[in-house]
Amino acid sequence: MKVLVTGGAGYIGSHTSLELLNGGHDVVILDNLSNSSAEAVSRIETLSGKKTAFYQADVRDKETLRKIFQAHKIDWVIHFAGLKAVGESCAKPIEYYDNNLYGTLCLLEVMKEAGVKKLIFSSSATVYGTPETLPLTENSKTGGTTNPYGTSKYFQEIMLEDVYKSDPTWTVVLLRYFNPVGAHESGMIGEDPKGIPNNLTPFIAKVAIGELPEIGVFGNDYPTKDGTGVRDYIHVVDLAKGHVAAMDNVKKSGVYVYNLGTGNGYSVLEVIAAFEKACGKKLPYSFKPRRAGDIAECYADASKAKRELGWEAKLGIDEMCASLWNWQSKNPNGYKK
Ligand code: NAD
Ligand code: UFG
Repeated sequence: MKVLVTGGAGYIGSHTSLELLNGGHDVVILDNLSNSSAEAVSRIETLSGKKTAFYQADVRDKETLRKIFQAHKIDWVIHFAGLKAVGESCAKPIEYYDNNLYGTLCLLEVMKEAGVKKLIFSSSATVYGTPETLPLTENSKTGGTTNPYGTSKYFQEIMLEDVYKSDPTWTVVLLRYFNPVGAHESGMIGEDPKGIPNNLTPFIAKVAIGELPEIGVFGNDYPTKDGTGVRDYIHVVDLAKGHVAAMDNVKKSGVYVYNLGTGNGYSVLEVIAAFEKACGKKLPYSFKPRRAGDIAECYADASKAKRELGWEAKLGIDEMCASLWNWQSKNPNGYKK
């Protein structure tokens, strides 16, 4: 298959592109590099021993999109391109809705013109808002999102469902990711956040290499096993493989929704302990107030993906932390030389 990967230079897109190349697929990457580096594309090519077609362009640039669909016979599109920082989205809602909603609309318009109607979309556990019951299944209530980023994911899911309703020859796969962490085992590609990381595991990694003084644990009074927030962390390589499984196993048109998680919840303190084991040192932390908009606990029922796609996460929290430490210690400045 020939796959257009939007946002393919980014964290999850680069790992997925590599799994696609290793699985014998051809990859065309479109990325405006607003949150990534062309170096990631070149490392994917080194690791796979294969070339990609790389376009540095914005997904809202319909002319370039048209040229891509004319130049390549695309079978599937995997759409990662978008902005993803929860806090930033509250300060910049217009930019988030423009990038995420208008970007998806441009892509859909050009896909329709080109007659390419198979799309895998990067959705998020965020669409469930505050969970009513756990674990979250694909039938759990969605909506009630608490920030423009999450709302943009929820709206994009609705837009895609409406496109299918208007034309049932479309195939739309909505993959709801839980918390992707870790890096490829080679340590050559990984997450390279700009500035001070917002997410837990990149922050821990920066403390471990001595770039940041201590971890702030946001809240120790949640109704969870040790009072700290619980999440379903999933190894990014398992997550990447979930996309290939979706592409390989979804054969008929329709709208398909899958949770991609492990089904296990780990607390912030448990993640710190696992990372200490991986890096072989004690890491300083202190308790801080709860972070606005955070929920206490969130983990997936991922059995539908196992049943229907034959996919399940294989790697545990120790592999997630060890691979992140491997990437961080080999690339203390990320992709910057
Ligand atoms: P990322 O920022 O590393 O990757 C996104 C990529 O898209 C970047 O390379 C960026 O340069 C590119 N991009 C952004 N806007 C673009 C545009 N208008 N045109 C072209 N390229 C553009 O983020 P990621 O963690 O790899 O996330 C990928 C997708 O998965 C996003 O849609 C994100 O919302 C979703 N997601 C991420 C998480 C997570 O925790 N990382 C969780 C759930 C869902
Ligand atoms: N946390 C800390 N200290 C930090 C950062 C985070 O204690 O410095 C805690 C949070 O309070 C939370 C847990 O660690 O309890 C995980 O927080 P993250 O910021 O790593 O992840 P979130 O669950 O808040 O959100 C992430 C992505 C979203 C995505 C969501 C579900 O940032 O984009 O997972 O997929 F939607």
